Amino acid sequence: MAIVIYPGTFDPITNGHSDIVQRAAAIFDHVIVAVAGSTAKHTVFSTDERVHLARQVFDDVAGVDVMRFDGLLVDFVRRQGAKLVLRGLRAVSDFEYEFQLANMNRHLAPDLDSIFLTPAEQYSYISSSLVREIAALGGDVTPFVHPRVLVALRERLHNQPRGAREK
Ligand code: COA
Repeated sequence: MAIVIYPGTFDPITNGHSDIVQRAAAIFDHVIVAVAGSTAKHTVFSTDERVHLARQVFDDVAGVDVMRFDGLLVDFVRRQGAKLVLRGLRAVSDFEYEFQLANMNRHLAPDLDSIFLTPAEQYSYISSSLVREIAALGGDVTPFVHPRVLVALRERLHNQPRGAREK
């Protein structure tokens, strides 16, 4: 069975991520969306919330599971019995960092490979932090996120004090 792991922070998951996952689901038997628990990023949503939102987004997509992972990505990939890491490439500017990540992961685990897919053009310029910023400033992010994520963003960014966010 061909399993591919799609890792990220997903704070929150966007339609750009979903686009990549849906493309992967058409190619592979099993896609695992791996939500990073240990991240240097200051996240607005806790790991459990990021997992929960991603699960809601992929609820009806066959062959897609969402899991949390902590520690090294390569260790998680091996534990799942997978050999492939999937990342999205939105623009040439993504390439340098992705190349570094892929090569470092290869150094850590030479038996694993990284593969890349590109999202549809309308998602090539979005990122989770841009979506958060626009939502926080009252802009419309409807085209960029699932309706459940939209509700979560509104509740979090407009109702919760900053101090309550996960560090
Ligand atoms: N659509 C929309 N946005 C996309 C996207 C797409 N198709 N593809 C990427 N992005 C965005 C993400 O939302 C994120 O936006 P943000 O910076 O505004 O939050 C950004 O592009 C990518 O961020 P990046 O830091 O490159 O990746 P990530 O946060 O998604 O995930 C991990 C990084 C978790 C995969 C990586 O840190 C990791 O593997 N950590 C585990 C520990 C480990 O093994 N470290 C050693 C690695 S060699």
